[in-house]
Amino acid sequence: MNKYDSDKDIDLAIYGDPKDRTRIEQHHENSLSCLEECQKIIKRLRKNEIPSTEIPVNNGKSHDFRLTRLYIDNFLFLVNFALELDETNILVGPNGCGKTSVLKALSLLQQLITRSARIDEVMSMEDLTRWQSRNEQRFELNLTLHESIYHYALVIEHDRDRRRMRIIKELLTHNDQPIFDFRDGNAQLYHDDYSQEPEYPFNWSYSGIGTLNARLDNQKLTEFKRAISKFIIVSSCPPLFQAEARREDSFLGLHMENFVRWYRHVSQKNMGGILMLFEDLREAMPGFDSIKLIESGESTRTMKIRFRGGDKGPKTMPFRLDELSDGQRLLGVFHT
Ligand SMILES: Nc1ncnc2c1ncn2[C@@H]1O[C@H](COP(=O)(O)OP(=O)(O)OP(=O)(O)O)[C@@H](O)[C@H]1O
Ligand SMILES: [Mg+2]
Repeated sequence: MNKYDSDKDIDLAIYGDPKDRTRIEQHHENSLSCLEECQKIIKRLRKNEIPSTEIPVNNGKSHDFRLTRLYIDNFLFLVNFALELDETNILVGPNGCGKTSVLKALSLLQQLITRSARIDEVMSMEDLTRWQSRNEQRFELNLTLHESIYHYALVIEHDRDRRRMRIIKELLTHNDQPIFDFRDGNAQLYHDDYSQEPEYPFNWSYSGIGTLNARLDNQKLTEFKRAISKFIIVSSCPPLFQAEARREDSFLGLHMENFVRWYRHVSQKNMGGILMLFEDLREAMPGFDSIKLIESGESTRTMKIRFRGGDKGPKTMPFRLDELSDGQRLLGVFHT
């Protein structure tokens, strides 16, 4: 990974095959204007004017935790790939250099650690790097939280003949002291004072950390899970946004397809925030009036966005989320 130093205030994280800036410029006719755009975006991000798209942003700005390093091996395009992260990072590189693969890896870890997903629900054998014959995949992340440093490592083993996979190692350390250690089918949990609990056999298909409930004596582990659950990892795809929600979701899907289910959840908890959102959108989107979740069946709500009509027409007109243009949908979800 190289850092751009053209603007000392701004760090642009570049990764992938290109070895330096010159090479990226040669490969990408538009890269300079793209970089200038990125710098503008970062400046606006820092002023909180817009949210980001494919990047972990506000990495430590408004939270007390920060992801400082990611390591991914034998997953999609990424082989022995390490990424050091600053407060704000933008992943820039040619098409197909692996930017979205990084997000997919992060999303995968989040689903395992915080949503108790089964390993074969969130990955498949196709996720092994196509040109590697090794069967093991490795994921690591470092996170600083308050004054503490967490290190998390996960190793997955694939059985290519049976098309099965299992977790063969999962380790979480807090300031270099283990607080959870799973290997060879046995899990070892540690109290907050690092003293050991009895070892217990555990299922190879789930993250052991993901299945542990918060307790008074595992607050270090619980804080780690809470921090991971706060990552918003999205690579938005407006045509996939569904206008209807049959239930609430507390998290956003990778392509934000469940945006309305998530909005249903956050709008219940934060009415004040929703009013501020409306004010923002009135400035950003010409004619925008308000958003409503309209009952459209048993327990189903449909997102309708009202726009002000012209002088002669009705005062406001409703449109379903999937009737807005792609750009309008993006504006709406990013402001939220
Ligand atoms: N299992 C796999 N093994 C190796 N490479 C893969 C695998 N699956 C997909 N790829 C390739 O990985 C490359 C990186 O894909 P990725 O989506 O991460 O690129 P990107 O940097 O996000 O590109 P873009 O700028 O076009 O969105 C692509 O060329 C893709 O075809
Ligand atoms: Mg991509």
